Amino acid sequence: MTTTLIDESTRPKAPRIEGVTPSQRAGGRHLAEFHRMHLQQFDQIRALIDRIEAGEPVADQLAAAIPDMTVARNYRLFGALCGRECQWLTFHHDAEESELFPLLKARGGEGLRRVVERLIEEHRVVHALLVELQTRAEAMAVSADSERYEGMKATFDALDRVIRSHFKYEEAELEEAMGLYWGG
Ligand SMILES: [Fe+2]
Ligand SMILES: [Fe+2]
Repeated sequence: MTTTLIDESTRPKAPRIEGVTPSQRAGGRHLAEFHRMHLQQFDQIRALIDRIEAGEPVADQLAAAIPDMTVARNYRLFGALCGRECQWLTFHHDAEESELFPLLKARGGEGLRRVVERLIEEHRVVHALLVELQTRAEAMAVSADSERYEGMKATFDALDRVIRSHFKYEEAELEEAMGLYWGG
């Protein structure tokens, strides 16, 4: 399992920009709206995990004796939801790296460029987790069992932690710059 985590203490801060108007600031919060849609997907997957955990047979011999179709179906659904979210998040990061980040680097100063470089580094960490989760989701589609479920859940948990931290950092440091330069 990938154990690489983000070290929040080494994150550079973007220099504050004077004179950003309220409407520009509102424009800068656009990124947070996209992030919220992704976090809703994460919450939905978390709710499914809770259902799976609540429905697990208590004893192993019981699980062996009764083929639990509901559990297997939930495992497959878990795989499908994770696979879909992997694709959406990949699109989101690709769009940031091909459109937003180059613009911010071109129009912002050295301080903002350092933040963007750090965000790109964090995308690499997220990407490794996405590849791992996608691989596990594909394996789950072939055969859904509790061992694969546990492995996938561990990867999902790691991604969940990393992505929430990454989104928060990105929103906080890019809000003013996005408000000023994006679409302006
Ligand atoms: Fe990002
Ligand atoms: Fe983002």
